[in-house]
Amino acid sequence: MLVFERVTHRYGMRLALDDVTLEVARGERVAIVGPSGSGKTTLFRLAYAAFDPTAGRVLVGGDDMHTLNGAALRRRRATIAMIFQAHGLVDRLRVWQNVIAGTFGARSTLGALRAVTFPTPGERGDVRAALERVGLADRYADRAYGLSGGQRQRVAIARAVIQEAALVLADEPAASLDAELAHETVRMLLNDARARGATLLCSLHQPELAARFDRIVRLEHGRIVNE
Ligand SMILES: Nc1ncnc2c1ncn2[C@@H]1O[C@H](COP(=O)(O)OP(=O)(O)O)[C@@H](O)[C@H]1O
Ligand SMILES: [Mg+2]
Repeated sequence: MLVFERVTHRYGMRLALDDVTLEVARGERVAIVGPSGSGKTTLFRLAYAAFDPTAGRVLVGGDDMHTLNGAALRRRRATIAMIFQAHGLVDRLRVWQNVIAGTFGARSTLGALRAVTFPTPGERGDVRAALERVGLADRYADRAYGLSGGQRQRVAIARAVIQEAALVLADEPAASLDAELAHETVRMLLNDARARGATLLCSLHQPELAARFDRIVRLEHGRIVNE
């Protein structure tokens, strides 16, 4: 599903990833652990093709992300969900609007505008189902700014659920959450990936949260030190 083939990445002179080879199978749930600066975020950005690696190849679903043209890259990205820590919600919008934004990658600009203003009954049902999955159906019409940190995290997960993303990339989704919320968030990501057969890559600061993943990959100074 996701393959890093001898990937090296430099920002200018700074080496962020050093000859990383990693293969993640479809449906596999992998924790990426490592200290700050070890290259976790760079790995996620490359999986999303935010930029090209300095050397090596990144393949998603068998496609070399670097060689995809604009339309194909857009289609591919629509199947990838990025979940960040607590950011990424639009405060002045309602919960359902934040969730439906998960489908924007698969829509035209006008289509996205229409969905976020006049959703069809089917789309409203999809949003409700996604919110039910994360236990937030009762906050459907609330504005995002009124939500707690844990609730915001769950809306971000609902957005990945409605996107039906085959690949979920969660970069430190549990950072800055208290221990209980961190566990809850990780549990929800694991359950969602299992329920949908999605592939999950999740970076974590706290190694104790990694235990329930199928596999743990440790990064240090841009290199994988054990698997
Ligand atoms: N935009 C950037 N410009 C220059 N250096 C960067 C940039 N982003 C990250 N780095 C450097 O690359 C290395 C890996 O960073 P990062 O992938 O963010 O690690 P992590 O997410 O594990 O903290 C660090 O040394 C960091 O300082
Ligand atoms: Mg990071």
